[in-house]
Amino acid sequence: MRTDLCDLLGIEHPIVGFSPSEHVVAAISRAGGLGVLGCVRFNDPDELEAVLTWLDEETGGKPYGVDVVMPGREPAEGPVADLNQLIPSGHRDFVEQALLRLGVPPLGSASDRPGVLGWLHSVARSHVEVALRHPVRLIANALGPPPPDVIEQAHAHGLLVAALAGRADHARSHVAGGVDIVVAQGYEAGGHTGEIAGMVLIPEIVDAVDVPVLAAGGIGSGRQIAAALALGARGVWMGSVWLGTSEYRSAPALRDALLQATSSDTVRSRIYSGKPARLLRNRWTEAWSTEDAPAALPMPLQNLLVSGAHDRLMASGDPTVVPMPVGQIVGRMNEVRPVAEVLTDLVTEADETLARLHKLL
Ligand SMILES: Cc1cc2nc3c(=O)[nH]c(=O)nc-3n(C[C@H](O)[C@H](O)[C@H](O)COP(=O)(O)O)c2cc1C
Repeated sequence: MRTDLCDLLGIEHPIVGFSPSEHVVAAISRAGGLGVLGCVRFNDPDELEAVLTWLDEETGGKPYGVDVVMPGREPAEGPVADLNQLIPSGHRDFVEQALLRLGVPPLGSASDRPGVLGWLHSVARSHVEVALRHPVRLIANALGPPPPDVIEQAHAHGLLVAALAGRADHARSHVAGGVDIVVAQGYEAGGHTGEIAGMVLIPEIVDAVDVPVLAAGGIGSGRQIAAALALGARGVWMGSVWLGTSEYRSAPALRDALLQATSSDTVRSRIYSGKPARLLRNRWTEAWSTEDAPAALPMPLQNLLVSGAHDRLMASGDPTVVPMPVGQIVGRMNEVRPVAEVLTDLVTEADETLARLHKLL
């Protein structure tokens, strides 16, 4: 299985893998796909600089990409202390009470992590600046097209620019703004996602734009890759599946929760970031759907509100409360395997499927 995406990106298989983990990203690129590092978690650009330097080594000259988050509607900016002032005390009380009810103990020592700031344009711009100092092949943006000057800068450095889209009109405006590749992200996907299912969305976007489209959302097997190609995509963009690989190095509670979850165990909710994102459904997400739960706050305040709780939920070691974005494909994530093995199986099954379909002619 090869498409023109392989030549465009300099990769062997038309499989792009998003991960917040540099270990996963390096393994995907080494195995012939394009690993794309999620940068949103890097509040400190120096930390990203160190990770990209590591990736330059570990990818052994194979291409890789980065993903930043610059929402089309810019979140409020300001020092963390000022942003924290905007969080109503009723929300803080609710979080504390919910943790108490869930039996989640306080941390041994207070966390000094303020929360995710990577979706502030100022912080995301620092990610772009760092990325441009490295041999990055592609820069992707979630939640809208990157600002025009970022696209220009990326192009001037010879990078391709991708953007995620959950609607055909969004895809059209991304391309009008200069985006080179559209990632059509269906409702099934993990993380921020829209309301249209991939089966409907992918051909709609393929027909709406004249640039390569990658299919995203719910892809976890070679049959699904073949289906995405049949819908007109030139390749796939996968996120959730890599959470189940050995390179992801997840805490045991998270690993157990992912392995046990079925495709019914996700929910699309604003409680992670303030914007709708598909998450693992569990006692923590259920706590937010009770009658006394407040509405989620806008980005970036919601994550500042829950980031301390996220640390406590993770540290609790309880698989029934871990806060985690994941898509419906989690139902098929039933064993932990190395990235290279997952990728080989994807390619083999996609090849077999394409051959089987060919015989129908
Ligand atoms: C844990 C996790 C974190 C994610 N974070 C981001 C992100 O920071 N930026 C982004 O563009 N997409 C993010 N996504 C979405 C992925 O890039 C990808 O579009 C999505 O996972 C595809 O659907 P799938 O989960 O069904 O494979 C995230 C997905 C997951 C599972």
